[in-house]
Amino acid sequence: MCWIFAYVWTEDCRKNLVEWLRMLEYRWYDSAGLICVWEEKEIFLEKAVGRVSALASKVDEKIEKEKNEQSWLFTSWIAHTRWATHGGVTESNTHPHYSGSQRFYIVHNGIIENYKELKKSLETKYTYYSETDTEVVAKLIEDMYDGNLKSTIEKVSEKLTWAYSLAVIDVQHPEHIIAIKLWSPLIVWKGENGVYLSSDINALSQLTESFTILEDNEMVVIESKKYHIYMAWERVQREAEEVGEVSSMSELWDFSSFTEKEIFEIPSILENVFSGRINFEEKIIHNETLEVLAEEEIEKICIIASGSSSFAWWVGGYFFRKYAGVPCETIISSEFLADIFLPEKKTLYVFLSQSGETADVRESMKIVKAKGCKTFGIVNVVGSTIARMSDAWLFSHAGIEVGVASTKNVIAQVGVLLLMALSFGSKRNLQISEIRDIITELASLPDKIQEVCLKAPHIRKLSEKYAHYKHFFVLWRNMMYPVALEASLKIKELSYVHSEAYSAWELKHGPLALVSPEFPTIVFNPSGKHYHKTISNIEEVRAREGKILGFISKNDTHKEVYTDCIELPDTSELLSVFTSLTASYLFALYLAEKLWRDVDKPRNLAKSVTVE
Ligand code: G6P
Repeated sequence: MCWIFAYVWTEDCRKNLVEWLRMLEYRWYDSAGLICVWEEKEIFLEKAVGRVSALASKVDEKIEKEKNEQSWLFTSWIAHTRWATHGGVTESNTHPHYSGSQRFYIVHNGIIENYKELKKSLETKYTYYSETDTEVVAKLIEDMYDGNLKSTIEKVSEKLTWAYSLAVIDVQHPEHIIAIKLWSPLIVWKGENGVYLSSDINALSQLTESFTILEDNEMVVIESKKYHIYMAWERVQREAEEVGEVSSMSELWDFSSFTEKEIFEIPSILENVFSGRINFEEKIIHNETLEVLAEEEIEKICIIASGSSSFAWWVGGYFFRKYAGVPCETIISSEFLADIFLPEKKTLYVFLSQSGETADVRESMKIVKAKGCKTFGIVNVVGSTIARMSDAWLFSHAGIEVGVASTKNVIAQVGVLLLMALSFGSKRNLQISEIRDIITELASLPDKIQEVCLKAPHIRKLSEKYAHYKHFFVLWRNMMYPVALEASLKIKELSYVHSEAYSAWELKHGPLALVSPEFPTIVFNPSGKHYHKTISNIEEVRAREGKILGFISKNDTHKEVYTDCIELPDTSELLSVFTSLTASYLFALYLAEKLWRDVDKPRNLAKSVTVE
């Protein structure tokens, strides 16, 4: 689903090759491959199943072996990391793919929906070596080649259905690389020694802060040290855009994983979220975007997202109802796409996405925009598609997130949603005194989260104690609902252990039948108006010999009902959303570590889901 390409002229790119590959490491999927073609039309093709580092060592080895034998002036190269969609995780399914005569090599990000028909139509002419949709495109390019790669790709693209960005090298003309995009992201940058192309803003932002972001249906022709962009055969003049704030690639320091590091970054991320948006001295929300928005005639909010971002919106829904008195509907983006859209002009459609590239979210936004409704993006990656498509936006300022499972960004999103709801509330019926109280509390939030992080050794111990269980229940009430869903998702995705989030109220309507000493229950029970009812639900589980791990506040008065507990700093119910989420991330992380999982790169998952 993701690839990066660099084009280099008159430079020995041996060391750069491996360096660039490492920039993709954080997006590791199932396999990786690259092809370099140099002036004499020599090719250097390498593929490896597993991490990018497996490919990097193969490349290193090859370079070492062939040292001094040739000049290694590569003209061009394309590289790709694959998240398997069509066909298993094998070397033959790994990109780059090639045409029948091995003249055209191609890498592709996306899905070609009509590949089966295309494959069939070419069956008599070509033998296929892979199960991928991409190989079919390589064959089609050769089949339709009219002596000019640019016009051939234009014609080929007319035959393809659905989203893609792809880049092609013609071994006969290695001085050119042509790439085209429809929906999947693609950016291009002219550096000192060549032109670089990438489908990942974070990877290229390690090299530059300003690049050109291709629009849908645009084609880029890279030639020597120049590039030209075309749309429908016509040349398009476009300057590189200054993307502004870009995140630098993270260092691991002493943490055992990026996921752990990112959880420990939460206090400072919250400071970023509040900085420039809250005036703590005057105790007011102070942000132009929010002020303009809060003045608009908005009668309803509709929040759309997927994955962990969808749990952030769920919390946001409570905030909007509670603090702004605005009805708020929350929808999973894929369900939004599957449903019938009835546009409401006075509704603000809010899209949450860490990457800003998630296919379902992006496509939902297109539908909303096409009906002339107002869109608002809360996105982490600056310059991403969703950020650029939004009518107005705020960044979640979480910095680059390397762990595939989102953590610090979810909390940043929850923070942004809270500020939005308070800003809306300030123009509606929310009392100034209540806003001031919440802001006073928010000032202490980073420290409270820090306190949670200091509990990491205790949380680790408990995770280890619970690591032999095969199932978990995670119980919630009210605002803790999304927290429980997110905690349960983290257990599943990081440790591959079955976990189910369930309403504490609903438990006795069926799932209680599952409770046994071998099926422990995690419960979020901060102090607040639902505290006592949840204690009754816990008693019901205890009566069935169920074990209870409580995420509770320090001053909980019924500690004896829990088998074990993680005590969180005393806060209001509102702030307990942030502290409980952070603690649940640490629990899931250490559970996974105890089970020897690769926490930064859980099996089968991808950081940025750019296909539907
Ligand atoms: C993937 C990631 C999740 C993330 C989800 C939504 O599944 O593994 O951690 O929450 O995508 O991504 P987005 O970038 O839209 O927030």
